[in-house]
Amino acid sequence: MSDAYGFLAPIYQPLSRLVFGPDLLNANRAFLDLSMGKKSLILGGGDGLAYRDWDRNFIGEYWDTSPAMAKIATRNLRKSGIEVNCGSWSGKGKFDVVFLPFILDSIPDAEISELILQIYKSLNPGDLVVLSDFFPPATFIQKALQQLMITGFQLVARHQRSDLPGLASFFDPKIWRLVTQKTWRKGWIQARVYEKINDSMD
Ligand SMILES: C[S@@+](CC[C@H](N)C(=O)[O-])C[C@H]1O[C@@H](n2cnc3c(N)ncnc32)[C@H](O)[C@@H]1O
Repeated sequence: MSDAYGFLAPIYQPLSRLVFGPDLLNANRAFLDLSMGKKSLILGGGDGLAYRDWDRNFIGEYWDTSPAMAKIATRNLRKSGIEVNCGSWSGKGKFDVVFLPFILDSIPDAEISELILQIYKSLNPGDLVVLSDFFPPATFIQKALQQLMITGFQLVARHQRSDLPGLASFFDPKIWRLVTQKTWRKGWIQARVYEKINDSMD
């Protein structure tokens, strides 16, 4: 299987730290406690470093399409009760908390809509989605860096997007309630918790 993140996987964390310091990791770790004792689904979990401290109180499934990332994640998640899977999540299973850590910014809008629908079906009212990702950059330098990253990821990791998705627009307020959020770098980086409040799409 070709691996879009094969080259990046071993250097992803050092690169992230070089450009953003601890901010991306902190965004992914901001709401991890919400899943203790619950069944979690992690989509695009990368090398799994954010979840390295999880123990057997944390159960569920991890999915990532990159074999190189999944291999590192197997080590980082070994103390937890999370099953590591390499590939695309099929949409099967029921969960209490779904983590979306810096995955949606690489996916076309139609696929994001489809994924959010699948997630909706896998949750009950009261269950949570934890989204950590890039939101609109606030300064000229951030805009320039964002564009540079988009181009770089298109070249190195075969990302399909040439812009940032408007992530908030995928969480219809009739179905999802924004419970809390944390921001870094003037809101460019955010971690958000959405609660599913409605079991009917009407
Ligand atoms: C930008 S990296 C982020 C990695 C990690 N979540 C982090 O924040 O450190 C995006 C990850 O999403 C994975 N990915 C992309 N599309 C995916 C999909 N449809 N299903 C599962 N994983 C996917 C990539 O292989 C990559 O590991």
